[in-house]
Amino acid sequence: MRQAIAILDSGVGGLTVAKEVMRQLPQEEIVYFGDTDRAPYGPRATDEVLEFTEQIVSYLLHFKPKMIIIACNTATAIALQHIRSLVDIPVVGVVQPGARAAIKKTRNGSIGVIGTENTIRSGAYQHALQALNPHIRVVGLACPRLVPIVERRLYRTDEAKEAVSQSLQPLLNTTIDSLILGCTHYPFLSSAIAEVVGPRVSMISSADETAREVSAILHHRGQLARSGKIPIHRFFCSGDPNTFQAIAQEWLGEQIKVSPVFWQMT
Ligand code: SIN
Repeated sequence: MRQAIAILDSGVGGLTVAKEVMRQLPQEEIVYFGDTDRAPYGPRATDEVLEFTEQIVSYLLHFKPKMIIIACNTATAIALQHIRSLVDIPVVGVVQPGARAAIKKTRNGSIGVIGTENTIRSGAYQHALQALNPHIRVVGLACPRLVPIVERRLYRTDEAKEAVSQSLQPLLNTTIDSLILGCTHYPFLSSAIAEVVGPRVSMISSADETAREVSAILHHRGQLARSGKIPIHRFFCSGDPNTFQAIAQEWLGEQIKVSPVFWQMT
């Protein structure tokens, strides 16, 4: 049986990572889970994020994946180490790759990070960046209004532009020359974000670097799928499958099928 790469997120944000994996590794199969019914994870308690992430991982393990990508910054910041301790396949998060990409990009050593309340509060990016270079200055900013806008498929509206503009105001008087989109939902808003921060700030999404890390790990383990085969991607979500499908098709530029999953709440 061919083995898929499992990707999970609180909702549609992980599609930004899935798209890059599909671009860099077109022969790989993906099984994706978006927990749209319980998104956003940003304002949730740590225990909840741990529990939900573990629950999704156990669901995805039924597909016997060869690797798991936690394509959610909030879940990476809170649950990555815990999930790694539970499974015997590689588990990749999105914080470390994002930090690496930002370090490569910055010229003046001053890096902004936008993310959910949980991600910013965790200090995950600060630690990851300063472990790579202790002299880096990090300006973190929580932007709680942005994920719900993406999940509601409003990312091309004036409401989205307004929310982005108001959320990012505190960054405008800083010296940052690079901005990490520290939430996988934010690439959906990248034009609005670029308009606010201006051309002197480079935007960094972890999708690209995460896909590169996945590729390197699979190569190292001799587990890259053989090219020439058409991969079958499977998508699952816990909320409204129609909204998920509309967003996914728009973002990925291809037709997909989505299967709803209804959690049995305890
Ligand atoms: C969220 O569910 O609040 C956002 C997911 C992320 O942090 O990437």
